[in-house]
Amino acid sequence: MKAILLEKPGLFTVTDVAEPNVPAAGEALLQIHRVGICGTDISGYLGKMPFFSYPRIPGHELGVEVLAVGPGVIHVKPGDRCSVEPYMNCGQCHPCLLGHGNCCENLKVLGVMMDGGMTERLVIPARKLHPANKLTLEQCALVETLAIGCHAINRGNPKSGESVLVVGAGPIGLSVIEFAKLSGAKTIVMDLNEQRLEFVRRAMGVADTILARGDGTEVESLRQLTDGAFAQVVVDATGSHKSMSQALAYCSFTGRLVYVGITPSEIAFQHAPVMHRRELTLLASRNALPPDFTRIIGLIEAGKIDTRPWITHHAAFDEMIGVFPKWIQPEAGVIKAVMHVT
Ligand SMILES: NC(=O)c1ccc[n+]([C@@H]2O[C@H](COP(=O)([O-])OP(=O)(O)OC[C@H]3O[C@@H](n4cnc5c(N)ncnc54)[C@H](O)[C@@H]3O)[C@@H](O)[C@H]2O)c1
Ligand SMILES: [Zn+2]
Ligand SMILES: [Zn+2]
Repeated sequence: MKAILLEKPGLFTVTDVAEPNVPAAGEALLQIHRVGICGTDISGYLGKMPFFSYPRIPGHELGVEVLAVGPGVIHVKPGDRCSVEPYMNCGQCHPCLLGHGNCCENLKVLGVMMDGGMTERLVIPARKLHPANKLTLEQCALVETLAIGCHAINRGNPKSGESVLVVGAGPIGLSVIEFAKLSGAKTIVMDLNEQRLEFVRRAMGVADTILARGDGTEVESLRQLTDGAFAQVVVDATGSHKSMSQALAYCSFTGRLVYVGITPSEIAFQHAPVMHRRELTLLASRNALPPDFTRIIGLIEAGKIDTRPWITHHAAFDEMIGVFPKWIQPEAGVIKAVMHVT
């Protein structure tokens, strides 16, 4: 069967791989239908992702159909359409035993540290499948991206009547925005790219946006939008250490700052006055948890998350390698591109 291999940064090839084995106990054989492309795949392609190893079959945002299940699998059956939780945790380490499999010490993410879904069929542990028969296959593939934002908002835990500032309106920021809105808090979005803010206003229904000019005017705009209080929850989804250092200034007294964007750089800020005086809480946010997937599938089914603005580009399996370099250009305007395997 065919697969797309990222041999090394900048080089995708179509390759032949062996059919997977018959699913063993607790496993399921999947037909891969849709593969969402995300920043991780782009960073892997550009050679900028420290956890990515080569050669690798990418693909972790998957819309799949179950073909067969091994002994003992009862929550999914052949024919079920599913979303895949791509975080392969060990189940034995300290965070796993505490129920934090998203932070497993031995975590392997499908398509990043192990071969993923840019292929026709795959066997994975069935416990990583979330049945979603009322969703389209594209929607199934989108659930993982949404789960990142869901978890980040769970970490910040905004309440109705509070304000949430989301800094960075790329796909991860957009997924945070979905759950910020659902929390009932007032949602404000900041980016340095006016086009992205225009998309947020037009397609995501967020009225309050702030252009980050880097000259202090953004702090003043936020003060005005929050009646002088600033934001009880700030979620930084930029991956920019500059923004992440600055983000404390956007927090209200006793506010929470969540870093969902990732940087290997040092983040520097003064402890006093801002962090100490306002008694701020700093939180990281990594991946997502199984209940996030279940919740998101229910929210899409109930029409509480509109996936229509999300999926902007499509390509067939045979076209993917040719269009990928175009998709990663900012002028392409990709929010979420999806590859169709079958
Ligand atoms: N926590 C997790 O588990 C997890 C999972 C996936 C991705 N990520 C991380 O999330 C981050 C965002 O991913 P993405 O795909 O949305 O990236 P992206 O590059 O598409 O979006 C980042 C956005 O931030 C904006 N931005 C950059 N610097 C800024 C600044 N100083 N002020 C305001 N806005 C600024 C950019 O204009 C852009 O719109 C990345 O760091 C990625 O690695 C985290
Ligand atoms: Zn992803
Ligand atoms: Zn573990």
